[in-house]
This record gives sequence, structure tokens and C-alpha cells, in this order.
Amino acid sequence: MALITKRVYGAEDVLPKDSYKWQFLEQLMRSEASAYGFKEIRTPVFEHTELFQRGVGDTTDIVQKEMYTFNTKGGTSLTLKPEGTAGAARALLEHALYNDGLPVKVYYITPCYRYEKKQANRYREFHQFGMETYGSESPAADAEMICAAQSIFDRLYIGDKLRLELNSIGCPECRAKYYEALKEYFSQYKDQLCETCLSRLERNPMRILDCKSPVCSEIAKGAPVVLDYICDDCKEHFEEVKSLLDSAGVKYSINPKIVRGLDYYTRTVFEFVTDELGAQGTVCGGGRYDGLIEELGGQHLPSLGFALGIERLLALLEAMGAEIPNNDECELYIATMGKRSQSKAFELLAQVRSTSMHAETDIVGRSLRAQMKYADKIGAKFSLVLGDNEIDSNKAELKNMESGEKTEISLDGRFLNEFISASAHNSAKAVFLNKEDKKD
Ligand code: HAM
Repeated sequence: MALITKRVYGAEDVLPKDSYKWQFLEQLMRSEASAYGFKEIRTPVFEHTELFQRGVGDTTDIVQKEMYTFNTKGGTSLTLKPEGTAGAARALLEHALYNDGLPVKVYYITPCYRYEKKQANRYREFHQFGMETYGSESPAADAEMICAAQSIFDRLYIGDKLRLELNSIGCPECRAKYYEALKEYFSQYKDQLCETCLSRLERNPMRILDCKSPVCSEIAKGAPVVLDYICDDCKEHFEEVKSLLDSAGVKYSINPKIVRGLDYYTRTVFEFVTDELGAQGTVCGGGRYDGLIEELGGQHLPSLGFALGIERLLALLEAMGAEIPNNDECELYIATMGKRSQSKAFELLAQVRSTSMHAETDIVGRSLRAQMKYADKIGAKFSLVLGDNEIDSNKAELKNMESGEKTEISLDGRFLNEFISASAHNSAKAVFLNKEDKKD
């Protein structure tokens, strides 16, 4: 097939019939973020390659294998963002956002690019919703972040379908002892580790723990766990995070194996995981990154965040049979017959649309029969036919397309009010159903 009509491998189109689902989720996530006091940040889709090498870490799979990197005509190396944290941190530094008072709390919705092997729910272009807090070392910031993610899932009625798994990977001091233990363990398997992991053994042995090669991940199963090596301060911090989550009624389990695939993390790390999506069960991941801002050349600014994959969230909702409210539905279709009727329809439609209601008329030149068929096809809730009689008498019949019931409606100054009261009366309220509700 000609390449020009084929989308790029690993990227998806969101078609008009599905875009309401994205809009619904985006709106819900925005309103949840703002309920927690986070403001939106939008950063470019590409950044200087060094940002990700320094930020995400040059021994990670993301940087070593998955980045879309290219040179501009001027010879500058740019990379399409593989995640949202590094770009947001760069913007924080560039615009000195910390001068406006701490903490700085931002959220974003962004496309991300990773050259990964395509699988169900794993794409090369995907979308993240993320939240980041800069300038707090307190466990309260960790707990707030986790609560915010949890409340998004709760508002979608899937809070109990995801397991929150929690770990602490300590600070650089406790990490040093852990690295020694890992080196000792993995050195026994030098002849079996993949080439990338062999080089990681010296530079960053923790990265071997999230290598996707089957042999390395089998070996990693027996590796020492970081929680056994964290210092007293990190332990205390972790205890306080857990205790605040208990107070907020957020359920979690400790998974000492979570290390996350990005280098910037310190102390608390977490993932929301589901069994409903096969191998790609991690819907959301995040944690603290107390050293990142300094690593990028800024002051010491303890920070943390999370990102969730919107495609995976949608896949989970679909797997559970959730019905996302569609506010895109056509409220009124006006069928026309000739020029006079068309111009009356335009007059009436302008009134309905001024209230942001979705209303349509024929713009193709169809017969009356075909117009009514079309109104049915697009699921119009009400229709009315405008002929000379209707226009002369200033009255028409408003038809409820579902019940077939007809009511008289005035076509003069009373039209909009009469339509609003008729449609509000009859329109089915958009409801959000989960599987259990549907059975009743
Ligand atoms: P991450 O775990 O690499 O973390 O990605 C976060 C989420 O993005 C994953 O849980 C998953 O839902 C989604 N995701 C990742 N890769 C793909 C893919 N190839 N296809 C579909 N979805 C994917 C981060 O990116 C961190 N920046 C999160 C963070 C923010 N930590 C602190 N602040």
C-alpha cells in the first residue's frame, strides 16, 4: 500500500467517532489537577537531546534504545520527548518558576515518543497526563501526588481495578551500598547478561532490573531488593508517606521490586497496575526525583510527580465495559425543502447553537426522505421539518426521534425557549456505567 495513506507504525489515529472519549478524559484529568492546585504547563514536543541524556539518564533503555533523535539542518541534535518530566523541569529552570513561591505545581497532557517494539497497549507515539510538584521534601507532597492519581481513577470508577504498588529506592547515599550488592549479585551471571546490561553492571547496575530481555529479567528476579538497603532518614520518610496514605484511605501494597525505568528517581516510587491489560499493565508510574533539578544545573529542589498513559487508561476502561458519556450528540436536526426553508433553518439553528447545543441541517442537497434517514443515522434527538406551511403559520412539529412523539413548537421569538424546555424534558441524562451497573 502506498506509504502516504498508511500511518506510521506504532502511532494511532483518534477517529471522530472516538474523540469524545479523549475529550472526556482530558477534561476530567484537568479538573482533578486543578482541584489539587496544579496549573497546566505546555512544553515543546522536542528538546535538546542532552536534556534527556542528563535527565532520564544515559544508561536507561529509553535513552539507549528508544529515542527519536535527529539533527537539524544546523547540526543541533534534537529528540522528540520520550516523557514529560524532563521538559517540564527544563521550563521550570528556564523561566525560574520557583521564584513565584514554592511549591510549584504543574500538570500536562502531551504526546510522547519511544521507539519500542509495538505490542498491545504499547505504542511509539502515546500520550501522557502528568503532574509534577517542585520544591517540597515533605512526605505530604508524596501523599498528595498519589492521592491525586488515585482520585482520577476513583472518579472513573476504576479505583479498585488498579493496584497501587509502592516502594522506596532511597537517596544517593543508601543507593551506593545497594549498587555494591547488585554488582556482586549480577557479576555471577556475566556470561548470560545482554551486552547493554554488561555495560550497566559497572555504570548503573539498578538498570539491569528493568531490562526487557527475558534472560536478564529472569536473572533479575533473584537480585537483592533496594528496600533492604535504605538509610534511616529514607525509611522514616517512607513510613510517613504510608501513614498519610492510610489517613487518606488510599490502599497500597509494598512492592520492593519497583525501581522504575528512569534514572532520576529517589526515595518514593509507585505504580498503578492492572491485570486487565496483559503485559502492559502499568497504567501510571511516578515518584520522587530530589536530584533532577540540580542535575540539570539548578538549585537543590526536591521534586516529584507521576504520569499516566492515556491509551492504557482508555484500554482499561474499555476492557471493563465502561461507557464514556458522549456530549457530542446532535440535539436537533432541521430538515429543509428549498431556499426559503433553508434560510429559516439557518435562522433557527443560529439560536440553538448560540447555547452551545449541537444542531444540524442539510448541507448536501438531499431529498427530505434522505435527510430524515441521515438525522436518524447521526442519532439526532429531535427533528423538525420546515415547509412553506410551517413557515407561513410560524409553527412546526418537533419530533422526538426516539419515542416518535410530536409536540408543536413556535418558529417565532419563542422558538429557543420552547426547544430548550422540550429537549431538557426528554433528553436522557448522560450516565457513566461500569460493567456491574449494566447488568441490572
Ligand atoms: P513511565 O513509567 O515511563 O514514567 O511512563 C508513564 C506511563 O506512560 C506508563 O505507566 C504508561 O501508562 C505510559 N507509557 C509509557 N510508555 C508507553 C508506550 N510505549 N505506549 C503506551 N503507553 C506508554 C514516566 O514517563 C515518568 N516521566 C513519570 C513521572 C512523572 N515521574 C515523575 N513525574
